[in-house]
Amino acid sequence: MPKEEIRLNAGDPDVEAPQYAINEALKAIIEGGPNTHYPHYTNIPDQFNEAVVDYYEKFTRVRYETKNVLPAAGSSAALYTALAAVLEKGDEVVLFKPYYMGHTRIFQGMGVKTNMVPLKKELGYHPDPEDIKAAVTPKTKAILVCNPANPTGTVFTEAECRTIGDVSVDNDMAVFADEIYLHFVYDKKFVSIASLSEAYKERTINIMSFSKTFSMTGWRLGYDIVPDKYLEKAKLIAGLTAPRPATFVFKAGISCLRGDFKYVDERRAVYKARRDYFCKAVDDLGWPCHMFEGAFYAWFDVTSTGLGSQEFLRKLKEEQNVVLSPGDRFGADGFMRVPLIKPVPVLKEVVGRLKEFKAGL
Ligand SMILES: Cc1ncc(COP(=O)(O)O)c(C=O)c1O
Repeated sequence: MPKEEIRLNAGDPDVEAPQYAINEALKAIIEGGPNTHYPHYTNIPDQFNEAVVDYYEKFTRVRYETKNVLPAAGSSAALYTALAAVLEKGDEVVLFKPYYMGHTRIFQGMGVKTNMVPLKKELGYHPDPEDIKAAVTPKTKAILVCNPANPTGTVFTEAECRTIGDVSVDNDMAVFADEIYLHFVYDKKFVSIASLSEAYKERTINIMSFSKTFSMTGWRLGYDIVPDKYLEKAKLIAGLTAPRPATFVFKAGISCLRGDFKYVDERRAVYKARRDYFCKAVDDLGWPCHMFEGAFYAWFDVTSTGLGSQEFLRKLKEEQNVVLSPGDRFGADGFMRVPLIKPVPVLKEVVGRLKEFKAGL
């Protein structure tokens, strides 16, 4: 009997949004009226922005004004707004590698060159500060930091955040801080770059999302927090290009931001338990697997097999009916990424199949 397919390739959580968010959206739809008409004729987006400002301060101790919050239908839209508010064709941006291809795709589309700084395996997927400084040229206009990082789970230390902040101030660069995984940090402390100094805050655009924190990938809710320096241009771009959230989705978002975060604490505990099991089990197979610090992606090294990521993926699918994400899509051929979006018993089955697969290589 053929094995049932196990698909672990997209970072899409395996649970529903918090019940209170679902109830809030349903209630808003049933009530109708302003909740189901154009948002900008209501005060609902303002209420959302107020909730964002309070929320961001609660978790990072940085306070913004509501005018600095630009909601979007998911952080992918917010990302484009942020990047296009600062960069033009021919500019350069510093990016850490392995990278999230949702970032590089936008840079490629914009004709922006990426100067890569390696997240070094031997440094636990952290950067060498000298490499950050060396990646800056006169054409470099910004640095993008995915903190915690997809795919490596790197949680940037305060010292690293300060290096990034100083480099950006010294070279008049913007900082794009993609912080969509900030609640999923294990045994480390999340540091928001903007929290470390007023000079950093003035040039840092935070990119945020409900997709992972509240398992709301299909609700499409995210936002930028844009400092005054880039605000006018960002508003113009968002107005022209970025899809806006539905009015009743704002309401669900408010209930999340003003809620007690027990749901998020539970998710963090679940991802940590999956990480503790899976990363060790894969490492024990002889494929070095990183005990990641944040987000929820296992990342392991299969270079010893002599197979590239695509070949590994193809053979694994063929022989074991398991689909993972190939590392070459993140700039690291010979590595594999596994979003831990299935319960431990399924992950155990995956480890069993990986073991069998390895024995047959
Ligand atoms: C680092 C990072 N940023 C942004 C996104 C986009 O998320 P969304 O558009 O669902 O908010 C993702 C999704 O995987 C991601 O991993």
